[in-house]
Amino acid sequence: MATVVPLPTRRATIRLARALAAALGPGDLVILSGDLGAGKTFFTRALCRALGVPAEEPITSPTFTLIHEHAARLPVAHADLYRLADEDELGHLGLRDRRGEGAVLIVEWGAPFEGALGGDALHIAIAVSAAGERSARLDASGPRGREVLASMLAGTGSLAGA
Ligand SMILES: Nc1ncnc2c1ncn2[C@@H]1O[C@H](COP(=O)(O)OP(=O)(O)OP(=O)(O)O)[C@@H](O)[C@H]1O
Ligand SMILES: [Mg+2]
Repeated sequence: MATVVPLPTRRATIRLARALAAALGPGDLVILSGDLGAGKTFFTRALCRALGVPAEEPITSPTFTLIHEHAARLPVAHADLYRLADEDELGHLGLRDRRGEGAVLIVEWGAPFEGALGGDALHIAIAVSAAGERSARLDASGPRGREVLASMLAGTGSLAGA
């Protein structure tokens, strides 16, 4: 069952990212959905900071390079697959291999490629209402995803508004 967390402020998004950071382990897959400008990269930046990427290291959108790697408590591979044409191209990026090597994969626009990424993901879909109010819908697609979600929610019980 999906959980919806309201994100009325940037601070709320940062709190959610911190809760996820505490729940993540090697090889976890996080798939971020939501329209352009919803806050996927903003969330990823907060997550990377919470995992220990130093403040002086920029965390930007991997729009053209497709993947940025960051060293932290866990290695992080941050991908944006908006421009990816097909699964063949994904194979060349080696993302699934990075997962096997223990990196956490944070993938913007990754939903169409979930199977090729190895599945069992935590899904975070950020929606923006007509009034400009954001919320995150959290869902899992496998046993490890469910474990991460439960652990994350245990740390943020008060955040879940619905
Ligand atoms: N509650 C909030 N959570 C996240 N971002 C917010 C929030 N309120 C405002 N913002 C702003 O919304 C913008 C989100 O941009 P961001 O680049 O993260 O979007 P994106 O989903 O990654 O878009 P794209 O699909 O182009 O990659 C940022 O400028 C951020 O400051
Ligand atoms: Mg982005």
